[in-house]
Amino acid sequence: MSTELPFVVRALRLEAAGVLSVELVPADAAAPLPDWTPGAHVDLVVGDGSTRQYSLCGEPGAPWWRIAVLREPAGRGGSAWVHDHLRPGDRVRLRGPRNHFALEPAGSYLFVAGGIGITPLLPLLAEARRRGAASRLHYFGRSRRGMAFLDELAPYGDRIRVHAADDGPRPELRDLLDGLPPDALVYACGPSRLLAGLRAATEAAGRPDRLRTELFSAPVPAQPQPAGAFTVRLDRSGVEVTVPADRSALDVLLEAGVEIVNDCHEGICGSCETRVLAGAVDHRDHVLTAQERAAGDCLMVCVSRAAGDRLVLDL
Ligand code: FES
Repeated sequence: MSTELPFVVRALRLEAAGVLSVELVPADAAAPLPDWTPGAHVDLVVGDGSTRQYSLCGEPGAPWWRIAVLREPAGRGGSAWVHDHLRPGDRVRLRGPRNHFALEPAGSYLFVAGGIGITPLLPLLAEARRRGAASRLHYFGRSRRGMAFLDELAPYGDRIRVHAADDGPRPELRDLLDGLPPDALVYACGPSRLLAGLRAATEAAGRPDRLRTELFSAPVPAQPQPAGAFTVRLDRSGVEVTVPADRSALDVLLEAGVEIVNDCHEGICGSCETRVLAGAVDHRDHVLTAQERAAGDCLMVCVSRAAGDRLVLDL
């Protein structure tokens, strides 16, 4: 379970129209800042006590953390709270960091960002450069006005391609894969339409296993997924609960008084990751890689279920 730490807002900066970056330092100046790796995100506790996930987009090892928040007028209110209420010197609470989007070894990298999806890719791009790997970034947005961090990307020169809709026609996603070496990995973060397009393009190119994505929201399954009831045994307490077909394990466990960090309830944030001690898992999250799923030693209890009739969890 992630530890919650108090932080203080060190600085705010408008990075683009509607995008505010927030620099954060530990409230206790003597407290060590937890290590993080490129691709990591943190949970920020917003005004109503709920949490929102934001990618860390500063430099690992720096004495402060940086996140960037897009104001989303149709959102749940977390981004408006950040934009309208946070000011330098304010205290906030953060959990994490966690990383389900880390840079795996590869010969080269293709990064694809859509809008605010640039945030995890900034440190990933820097890490690829640090490793000496060939890389390029295609950054899609509606207009340059709203595309954050273009100034920070400028030193990468022609390794960065900016595709603003109001600049003119943009490349087809399948064209981005042209000439990509077999050992390359594709990292993408952005709206679900962009990620679905890339998934289709990598599948058509026979390389779906080379795509790594970070989602903003869970895609709607084409068909309702069948679900049956199963039993969950909590190894540490010996408690056993039944998860009916129409409920999630997370809901049942929370109702039973089990403390589990959770946020999205859609299998995209990784907050509720729980260790599995026995039983096969029907993974339905959008966080774990194919290898992590195959290992079968953890699951996201908000969406995933037992593949059989019973799971034993490390709770
Ligand atoms: S609560 Fe977000 S993955 Fe489960």
